[in-house]
Amino acid sequence: MIPLFTLERQNKILEKELNNAIKEVVDSGIFILGPKVAEFEEKFAKYLGVKYAVGVACGTDALSLALLAVGVGSGDEVILPANAYPTVFAVTAIGAVPKLVDIDPSSYNIDPAKIPQAITKKTKAIIPVHLYGQPSDMGEILKIGNKYGIPVVEDCAQAHGAEVGIQNDLVIPTKRSAWRNLSRMRESNSNKLRDPSTEFIPSEAEGLGMTSGQWEKVGGIGDIGCFSFYPTKNLGCFGDGGMVVTNNEDIYKKVRLLRMYGEKTRYNSVLLGRNSRLDELQAAILLVKLKYLGGWNERRRDIARSYELYKSTSCKWPYEAPYAKHVYHLFVIRTEKRDQLKEYLGKKGIQTAIHYPKPIHLQPSFKFLGYKKGDFPEAEKACEEILSLPMFPELTDGEVKRVVEAISQFSAIA
Ligand SMILES: Cc1ncc(COP(=O)(O)O)c(C=O)c1O
Repeated sequence: MIPLFTLERQNKILEKELNNAIKEVVDSGIFILGPKVAEFEEKFAKYLGVKYAVGVACGTDALSLALLAVGVGSGDEVILPANAYPTVFAVTAIGAVPKLVDIDPSSYNIDPAKIPQAITKKTKAIIPVHLYGQPSDMGEILKIGNKYGIPVVEDCAQAHGAEVGIQNDLVIPTKRSAWRNLSRMRESNSNKLRDPSTEFIPSEAEGLGMTSGQWEKVGGIGDIGCFSFYPTKNLGCFGDGGMVVTNNEDIYKKVRLLRMYGEKTRYNSVLLGRNSRLDELQAAILLVKLKYLGGWNERRRDIARSYELYKSTSCKWPYEAPYAKHVYHLFVIRTEKRDQLKEYLGKKGIQTAIHYPKPIHLQPSFKFLGYKKGDFPEAEKACEEILSLPMFPELTDGEVKRVVEAISQFSAIA
């Protein structure tokens, strides 16, 4: 059996380190907001190149607290892509109203061209979801955020370590950097995986805190970034966990208050907050794993290259946008014969999944939003055709080859 995802192999490799880390916390007797959380916040912020990080209970809470921190309240509208199934619950959890936008059919991320028509007087935030590990088109999204004065809250739950090429024609909210000539790169759009080191030319953005020609990790590009450490994520813990990151000190201070009853000092609440804390055990596990994240992401990209190398089928393979360094949280292909292919692969002992089978507006619980079938055709079509293939750093090249061979056999007979 080739699993879609498993932690077994990784846990075996890290067994000793993880056991030691867990024992250390147990022996310390400190379980909530102690030194491990503080150390992980510092190291994760450093890894991303952001100033501040706040550990919270899960990715959904990270998004809810981030929205509250940038001023979203009950009845306010929040723009997000129509296929962002997990994200939308963070919006409704704070009484805000999801305003859906269709996706770009190649990247599966929000289509920036369709955002302006969704903006109303009530719009208080835009959430680009870096789905499957590929950054959204942050250049275009930040232009819209800047033009309308709407904060951009990045959902990085599937994109730890994914990067965006810094360009020169746009002001980034907190770093005042600039982006350059994105259209030039769109022209060079191809279905190939690129070598990021050869793509960009340094320019005047240097000295502004970001350097054009370099790559910036997602999370610190918008006003605020949100991560999940759910066990299957590129960086995952052994339970639930999340993180909010930002370069804005005011936002940082507000999230710190919000995660623990709004307390400025113990039992002195100055803001209506909640209890949403990352715990010491999870932070200790994440500290062990963070050291390997870069290597794991490179391995995921290698696996994507292997898939690419072997592919010889009629399926549509994932596309990496020219401005993006994809970290392949999921390797999602697309075919009109998706259900038959899924069944065929299952019979061959290859596990697959669908992320996600139904867009938000067709979920019974979101009927109240008043959307109908046909409102977001690209998202609807994608949900019918997408299929996630096995993808995790310990997957072997031999297993990748077997998956692609099985897909080729299917293509020959279907
Ligand atoms: C894109 C996206 N956003 C938000 C979340 C929510 O994260 P969590 O499960 O940690 O609450 C997830 C996790 O499934 C996700 O994949």
